[in-house]
This record gives sequence, structure tokens and C-alpha cells, in this order.
Amino acid sequence: MVEQRELRVTQMTLEAEGVLSLRLTRIESDKPLPAWEPGSHIDVYVPDGTTRQYSLCGDPEDLSSYQVAVLREPEGRGGSAFIHDELRVGDRLLVTRPKQGFALEDATYHALVAGGVGITPIMAFAEHLDRQGRPFRLVYGGRTRDSMAFCPRLGALGERVELLAEDVDGRPDLDDVVKQLPDGGLIYVCGPLPLLRAVEAAAEAVHGPDQDVVRFELFSRAGVEPKESVPLDGDNYELVLAKSGHTLRMKPDANILDTVLALGVEVENDCRDGICGSCITSVVAGTVDHRDLVLTRKEQAAMNKMMICCSRPTSDRLELDL
Ligand code: FES
Repeated sequence: MVEQRELRVTQMTLEAEGVLSLRLTRIESDKPLPAWEPGSHIDVYVPDGTTRQYSLCGDPEDLSSYQVAVLREPEGRGGSAFIHDELRVGDRLLVTRPKQGFALEDATYHALVAGGVGITPIMAFAEHLDRQGRPFRLVYGGRTRDSMAFCPRLGALGERVELLAEDVDGRPDLDDVVKQLPDGGLIYVCGPLPLLRAVEAAAEAVHGPDQDVVRFELFSRAGVEPKESVPLDGDNYELVLAKSGHTLRMKPDANILDTVLALGVEVENDCRDGICGSCITSVVAGTVDHRDLVLTRKEQAAMNKMMICCSRPTSDRLELDL
């Protein structure tokens, strides 16, 4: 059972065109909220019946409240229209405890790249690195200056932050980000898929196709190319759940997460779309056609974990640590 709690909306601030930040404050005044690390997100159960994941971007030391930023999504999808148009200060929202899907690994240097509302976890990383006195660079691109959130707050981090409005400054120089990365450094990206692909291409040009310097988080599958199906030998495959002792025949396109949940095996899940990483599951045996946007290419090639909401086997037997 996912731990949930109600929080009160105590502040709503328009941070940029279409980007509203919410301060969500504990209702039991003396009980601290669960601690979180930069890169964590909470699920917000929006009263219109939708659930959305939002990265935390406040002060991790302040456990009286959380801060998130909500982009008004095109055509009002995903509950963002409700939050922008109907939610008011004083209302309550049901949220989960923070989950760490995008963690900052130890590195000699961190190059942080954000596009649009992807700035929320990236800003939390930058402020964390600043507090720790560790070297970093933050490159934040947006369509226009008016669309870029938290610019005054980012300005406090000084020359390590580059704010680039595309209509004035052009796009970020991602080749430069990669070329300036010292040995042992990592690049963290959060934003739309084209930005991630551009950073990956720049990294591959320098470090080769097996580059392992890019870490990323996406907010949606928008722009994701449909993936060619890898044919499976035979019609069905054998799915083995090692811990719970289930063995069953599966159609190649049957959803593994749905099947596992129907058997009463508990697996955390949020997006059900290969983005959030909640349903990550260890693979004991078998090979996988990875369809998620969470694992790095190296992690996918290792074949020892998979997102069971969207990926499927390429072997005729798949054994999971469930
Ligand atoms: S539920 Fe989000 S990646 Fe599977």
C-alpha cells in the first residue's frame, strides 16, 4: 500500500508563463514530512481523478512543506488544467511520500541541463551541489524568457548558471557541455525528448556509442518514436515469478504489470508508461526488449532489470524476482 497523506495548499505562485508552483504544507503541524533527496518526486492525486508526478524543488531541510511546479499541459491533459484553474490556497491535496527516481550520483563534476519545466529537479540538484561546495554547471534553455521558471532563484547561483531563451540566445551549446566535462564528470538532463536525444548525440560524438556519462529524466513520452517490435520465437513465452512461485504462459504483447498485479503480487507503479521507474523489477533470467525511458542504454544492455509496465521479453522464458 502506497503511503499517502493530505497536504494543504498554502502558496501558489506563477513562476513563468504556464508554470505554477505550489507549496504543500503538512496539516499535523508538529509532525515532519518524510525527508527527500534532490531528484525525488511525489504523486499528486488531483481531484479531477488524475494522478501526476511532480519533482520536488523546495528546500529539503524544510520538512514542514513540499514545493512542486506544475506546467499547464497542452489541451489541459493530466490534471494540470484543474491545478491552474480550480485549485485554490487552502485546498487540500492527497500526495504520496517522496520517491527517488532520479538520483544524483557521485562524480568529479556535474553538468546539469534543463529544458522547460525540467528545471525543477535540475534546480534541486544545483542547489544541493552548491550547499555541498561541489563543482557544477547548469545550462537551462526555454522557448522565451517569459516561459522560463525560477530565473531569479537560479540567478543566486551566479555564473555557474546559463539561462538561454531560444528566441534571443539560441539553443544551448550541448557540444560545449560535453567537451568541457572533466574526466569522471556526469551530465544530468531533464526536459523533453529532443533535448535528451541531442545531449546523447553530443556525448556519443565524444565518448562513442557506449557513452555512460548521461543521466536523464523525462516528463512525458511526447515525441517518442514508435519502437520496432523485436519478434519473439514462438507464440507464447513462459513467465516465472521466482519469489511468489507463479509460472504461466503469456502472450508476447500481454502487459506483465497487469498480469502480476492480477495475481496479487505487489509492485509499485505510477505512470504505467515507462517514464517514472516505479515498476523496476530485477530480471533473474531471460532477455528483454526495453521500451522504457528510464534505464540508460548500458543498464538496458545489462538485462538485469526492466520496467514491467511497458517492456517485454525477447526470450521464450522470463524469470523475474517477484
Ligand atoms: S509504472 Fe512508471 S515506469 Fe513502470
